[in-house]
Amino acid sequence: ADEFANQLPQMGFNNWNSTHCRDEFNEQMIRGIADKFISLGLKDAGYTYVNVDDCWANWKRGADGKLQPNPKRFPSGIKALAEYIHSKGLKFGVYSSAGTSTCEPLQENRGFPGGLGHEKDDAASIASWDVDYLKYDNCHNNKLDAHKRYTDMAEALRATGRPIFFSMCEWGENKPWLWASKAPVGAQSWRTTGDITDTYASMLKIFKQNVVLDQYASMGHWNDPDMLEVGNGGMTDVEYRSHFSLWSIMASPLLIGTDLRTIKPEALKILLNKDVIAIDQDPLGVQGKQVRDAEGIHVIVKPLKDGGKAVAVFNEGDKAKDVTVTAAELGLKKGGAYTMRDLWAHTDSKGDGSITAKLEPHATVMYRIHE
Ligand code: DGJ
Repeated sequence: ADEFANQLPQMGFNNWNSTHCRDEFNEQMIRGIADKFISLGLKDAGYTYVNVDDCWANWKRGADGKLQPNPKRFPSGIKALAEYIHSKGLKFGVYSSAGTSTCEPLQENRGFPGGLGHEKDDAASIASWDVDYLKYDNCHNNKLDAHKRYTDMAEALRATGRPIFFSMCEWGENKPWLWASKAPVGAQSWRTTGDITDTYASMLKIFKQNVVLDQYASMGHWNDPDMLEVGNGGMTDVEYRSHFSLWSIMASPLLIGTDLRTIKPEALKILLNKDVIAIDQDPLGVQGKQVRDAEGIHVIVKPLKDGGKAVAVFNEGDKAKDVTVTAAELGLKKGGAYTMRDLWAHTDSKGDGSITAKLEPHATVMYRIHE
């Protein structure tokens, strides 16, 4: 059975965007993040996975050929960390690469051990540690066929008998949206782009690459435009609200990429916006569709389970703009009477389904509309 068939986009945390491989990435940090999921209300808001990225593993496999954690960063071992995270009612993810080594060339231009050719052993190790999620990267792949590399790991994970979320990270190089959701891979998500950085230009570029792929997303199988940068300091709060709005209307994974132990209140408020999260997690499970991309204005519409629609209107440009969106453009009937909820102001108003907004540069307005 496909345990993930009815699952909405994954929500959680991954350390990469905030720490990369710096020493502060260690078990103490990850336990601290799990604690913050509870104390800051993130678990209650739906965030579930606490995931580690590259550099968790030791330089070398053990004498038995098995993966082992870096003893300095994770002296208590991966199973103990998984148990701690499970004790909080959360889930735990690890990382590897579908290549001979992972991406980070920290020593002698070599990364950490990759999964290529070790799929069965590594999947068995991961399952034996009670891990719930694998992010599987694309470095040092010897140009071998991606479909085969990701199939081999997907099958090895399934053979463990433990449901392990499979997050493919081949950066959209082989158009994974065309094959990753299908057997024999059956990935729960696949990256559609290269790496995000904490800049407005990067966020914008990735949004544009991902927004046109809506037809390939389906329940349990999601386009992944990379992890969130909200809170990392390289964008304004307006830009971070756009980032969070756009990722949500695209039914993207919501993986927090900032250190929750030091997060500022305004960034936390963005990540905890339950009205916007509800759009990402709407049980109909459809990625929003871009219905306008003209003169720097993007309009994206996402149908909702209750029969309503979510709408995001985004001004990509550097000048403020007055924007009008008609009910017809949103696929709403003419002359209807609608309730329109502003998902950032958290206010309701009555309307005919059209939207008029003065949009500051880089800003997004988001509405939930129903009859
Ligand atoms: C490339 C991936 O795309 C990133 O998300 C991150 O996992 C790094 N590799 C880690 O080396």
